[in-house]
Formats: sequence, C-alpha cells, structure tokens
Amino acid sequence: MIACGTDIIEIDRIKKSIEKSGNKFLNTIYTDNEIKYCESHEANKYQHYAARFAAKEAVFKALNKNTNMGTLDWKSFEIVNNVYGKPDVKIEDDSIESIDISISHCKEYAVANVVILYK
Ligand SMILES: CC(C)(COP(=O)(O)OP(=O)(O)OC[C@H]1O[C@@H](n2cnc3c(N)ncnc32)[C@H](O)[C@@H]1OP(=O)(O)O)[C@@H](O)C(=O)NCCC(=O)NCCS
Repeated sequence: MIACGTDIIEIDRIKKSIEKSGNKFLNTIYTDNEIKYCESHEANKYQHYAARFAAKEAVFKALNKNTNMGTLDWKSFEIVNNVYGKPDVKIEDDSIESIDISISHCKEYAVANVVILYK
C-alpha cells in the first residue's frame, strides 16, 4: 500500500504560538535536533519551524490513512536534513518500507508532502 499526506500552514500562526508559549510549545512539537536546525537559521527560523509543523501534519495524514487521527505524538519521529539539505523523516515503524518528504516555504506559507510505501 502507498499513502500520501500533505499540509500547508501560515508561518505567522507558528510564530505567534512560539512567541506566546515559548519553550512549552517548542518542546511539545519539536525534537531537540529539529529545534537546533531551526535556530541555526536565525533569520528565517519561523519558516523552518512552520515547515516542520506542516511536515509532521503531513506525516500524520500518511500514517493514518483510512483511520481517524487518534492521539498524535509529535515527537515520535523527526525531520532531518542530509548534507545536501534534502529533508527526510526519521521514524521507527516496522510496517514502513520507505518514506519520502518534500518541503517548501516562502514568506507567508510552508508546505510539506509525504509519501509512505508500506510493506
Ligand atoms: C534546494 C532548493 C531546491 C530549495 O529551493 P528554494 O526555492 O530555495 O526553497 P524552498 O522553500 O522551496 O525549499 C526549502 C526546502 O527545500 C528542502 N531542500 C533543501 N535542499 C534540498 C535538496 N537538495 N533536495 C531536496 N530538498 C531540499 C529543505 O527541506 C528546505 O526546507 P528546510 O531547510 O526547512 O528543511 C534550491 O535551493 C536549489 O535548487 N538549490 C540548487 C542547489 C544549490 O544551489 N545549492 C546550494 C546549497 S549551498
């Protein structure tokens, strides 16, 4: 089986959540590595945070095909970038053969698309 997931988000929404809830929001949604990556892009950090939020929503959609979304654990997987900048989803799930993700962001929006190939 193959499943896809997509999500788009307004960057300002994530910026406001971070400004309002600070570390509580960050530590609920993002892994330490994700926070490190976003903070290393100081000038555009909210774009990167928003992109990872969209990425996680997209993963949830691809993971929960044909089911309700249930309880979602934001940190049960993480978005990592390889040396070329390409993002990947680091996830432990024996039912997954392979997973791929693509991310894009501009001034106002971030978008992510995920495809999962199940065994
Ligand atoms: C990589 C590239 C496609 C990104 O496109 P862009 O229009 O600048 O930016 P977008 O907002 O659409 O995409 C940004 C996302 O692309 C993804 N990305 C970066 N490098 C990538 C790559 N090699 N392959 C696939 N995806 C990549 C990342 O997920 C990034 O978001 P993130 O940093 O928050 O994870 C673009 O920079 C490009 O074509 N580069 C050509 C090679 C180059 O010039 N490299 C310079 C590296 S120093």
